[in-house]
Amino acid sequence: KGGSLLDVTPQELAKHSKRKDAWMALKGKVYNVTPYLEFHPGGEEELMRGAGKDATDLFNEVHKWVNFEGMLQKCLVGRLVEGRPFFLKPSFLP
Ligand code: HEM
Repeated sequence: KGGSLLDVTPQELAKHSKRKDAWMALKGKVYNVTPYLEFHPGGEEELMRGAGKDATDLFNEVHKWVNFEGMLQKCLVGRLVEGRPFFLKPSFLP
């Protein structure tokens, strides 16, 4: 809906680690996985291991062949950005 994606910092991502509000970063994209929890073939508990985090490595260890981009298309929230404050971003440094 809308096509407006959020820039999500690791700090913001970490706030969404509950079943009813579960975000997960995969390959630089942030998804709301709450609607998918009940459909995950590996179970809710397994999927929740990656909630509020960058779960790319964990995902790849288990099933790197799974097409999460297609499956979670409608759950896309935004992209994962670095958590650095603006005044420490490289573009502001000499
Ligand atoms: C299956 C874990 C994320 C889709 C599984 C299984 C595990 C698992 C343990 C095996 C279940 C079994 O064989 O009994 C995890 C973990 C994740 C994660 C730890 C991240 C923290 C995801 C995501 C998706 C997904 C994001 C898709 C949007 C699937 C699918 C299967 C599966 C399609 C069945 C794959 C197959 O049998 O080849 N998962 N999962 N999983 N998961 Fe995940």
